[in-house]
Amino acid sequence: MNYTLVTGACGGLGGAFVRLLARRGEPLFLTGRSEDRLRALSEELCAANHALPVDFFPCDLSNERARGRLFAYCDSRRVRFARMIYVAGADIQKSFEKYTEEKLLLQARVNFEGAVSLIRSVMARSDLDGSTEFLCIGSVSGLMPMPYFALYSATKKALWQFCAALREELKGRAHVTCVLPGAIPTREDVREYIKGQGLWGRLAALPPETVAEKSLSALHKNRRSVVIGFWNKLMRVGTALVPLPLKLRFIAKRWRKCEKDAF
Ligand SMILES: NC(=O)c1ccc[n+]([C@@H]2O[C@H](COP(=O)([O-])OP(=O)(O)OC[C@H]3O[C@@H](n4cnc5c(N)ncnc54)[C@H](OP(=O)(O)O)[C@@H]3O)[C@@H](O)[C@H]2O)c1
Repeated sequence: MNYTLVTGACGGLGGAFVRLLARRGEPLFLTGRSEDRLRALSEELCAANHALPVDFFPCDLSNERARGRLFAYCDSRRVRFARMIYVAGADIQKSFEKYTEEKLLLQARVNFEGAVSLIRSVMARSDLDGSTEFLCIGSVSGLMPMPYFALYSATKKALWQFCAALREELKGRAHVTCVLPGAIPTREDVREYIKGQGLWGRLAALPPETVAEKSLSALHKNRRSVVIGFWNKLMRVGTALVPLPLKLRFIAKRWRKCEKDAF
C-alpha cells in the first residue's frame, strides 16, 4: 500500500491536510514530534473515516538520527510512499541578534534540511513512475529578503528554489510543487499577528482548509509553484517593480516590533 507522508501533521495547516486527505480515503503516514498527539490524531482520523489506513511515527525533523529512525520504522513495515507533503516549519520571527545558536539551527534544519533530506528518503521508497507527488509548503515571505524575519524568508526561498530545480530533474517521474501561502490563522500567536497587520492582514489571510485544498489542486495540476490567494498574488505583482532597497526599508519599519517564537 502506498501512503501519503505528512510532516507537521499535528499542526494547524498539517491538520487541515490530513483531515482533507482522510475524507478522500487516502492512506496516511503522519509525523510530528509528539507521539501522544500523533496517536490522538490517528485515532480521530480512523474514527471519522472507517477502515482508513493510518500509521505514524514521531520524529524531530531537525535531527539526522531521528530522521534515520523514522525511515528504519518505515522499512520494518515495508511502507512505500505515493506522495509527501512537507508542512513542518518553524516561523520564528525576530531580530537576528536575538537568536541563539540552538534556535537558528532548529529553524534552518526544520525548514530546509529536513525537507530535502525527507524528499531524498521518500524518493528511495517510491515508484517514481510518474504518479509520485512532492508538495512543499513555502511562504510568500520567501519571495523577497525580509528584515526581522531574515532566516525564515531565506529558508523558504531555498526550499522554493530547490523544488523548482528538482522538479526539472524528476520530469515525467514525479510532480514537485512548492506553494507559497500568505498568513494562515493557525496558532493563537499567528492569529494575534494577523490582527496586528490591520486590513491587509485580514484580507490576505486564508483558513488552513482553503490553503490545503488549493495546494493539493496545484500539486494535482503539476504546477511548479503557486502563490495562494488573490491578495497575495496581487501583492506579488504590485511589488515586482518596486526597487529592493525601498522594499527592505518598508519591511524593516513594519516588522521591527513584530516577534513570534513558538518553538
Ligand atoms: N501560519 C502562517 O501564517 C503561515 C504562512 C505561510 C507559511 N506557513 C507555513 O506553513 C507550515 C505550517 O505552519 P502552521 O501555521 O500550521 O504552524 P504550526 O501549527 O506551528 O505547525 C508547524 C508544524 O511544524 C512542526 N515542526 C516544527 N518543528 C519541528 C521539528 N523540529 N520536527 C518535526 N516537526 C516540527 C510542528 O510539529 P509538532 O507537532 O511536533 O509541534 C507543527 O506541526 C509551516 O511550514 C509554515 O512555515 C505558515
